[in-house]
Amino acid sequence: MSTHIEAKKGDIADTVLLPGDPMRAKWIAETFFDTPTLYNDVRGMLGYTGTYKGKRVSVQGTGMGIPSCLIYCHELINNYGVKNLIRVGSAGSYQKHVKIRDVVLAMSASSTSGINNSRFINADYAPTANFDLFMQAASYAKANNISVKAGNVLSSDEFYEDDFNSYKKWADFGVLCVEMETAGLYTIAAKYNVNALSILTISDSLVSKKSLSADDRESTFKTMIEIALNINND
Ligand code: ADE
Repeated sequence: MSTHIEAKKGDIADTVLLPGDPMRAKWIAETFFDTPTLYNDVRGMLGYTGTYKGKRVSVQGTGMGIPSCLIYCHELINNYGVKNLIRVGSAGSYQKHVKIRDVVLAMSASSTSGINNSRFINADYAPTANFDLFMQAASYAKANNISVKAGNVLSSDEFYEDDFNSYKKWADFGVLCVEMETAGLYTIAAKYNVNALSILTISDSLVSKKSLSADDRESTFKTMIEIALNINND
C-alpha cells in the first residue's frame, strides 16, 4: 500500500491507463477489460486491473490538474513499478482545424504550471512523449483508419482563465489544444525513466465555443481508449 493507493505489490499491471475522472476509470474497466478487479478506492480515486486481448492492464483515475496527477504517477512508478503510463483525457481545442471529437496525440506539452519553473530556474524544460508509445498509437490509428492529430498541447493550471482570449497566443504558436496534466506526466516519466503518452479527445473548442454533451463524450471516448489499449510495449 502507498499513501494514496491501497493496492498490494503486484496488483497493478506494467501498463496503466490514466483518465482524470475516476468514474471514467470504472467505465473503462467495465467496458473494455475481461475480469476487472478493483484495487483502489482511497478518496474514491478508483483503480482496476484486468486483461485486454489476454494482456494484463490497469486503469487509474488521477483527478484533475498536474498536482493530483503527479501524486498517482509517483506512487504507480515508485511503489508499484509501473512502466507505461498512458493518459486518456479530454481537451479543449485551440485551432480551427482541431474539431470536437478529434483525437490528439500529445507529442509535447507546454505549460502554465509552475512545476518546471521552480525546478529548472531561468531555463525551459520540454516535456515530451515517449517515442515508442507515440509510434505505436499513431501506427494503430493509421492501420485502422482512425484520423488523429499530433503536436504540442498546453497543460494549464486553470480551467477558468481570467481572459478566455489568452488561448490565442498559444494558438499562434501552433498549440493544438488545452488540458491540465500532460506536462507533469511527461516530466515525471522522464525523471524516473519510464514511458508516457497522452491521448486526448477534443470535448470542447475555444474557437467554435461548441462542446460535447455527456452522452456524446462516452461514445467518442471509445476510439481513444481503443488506441490506448492496443499499444503493446512489453
Ligand atoms: N479539458 C477539456 N476541456 C478543457 C479546457 N477547455 N480547458 C482545460 N482542460 C480541458
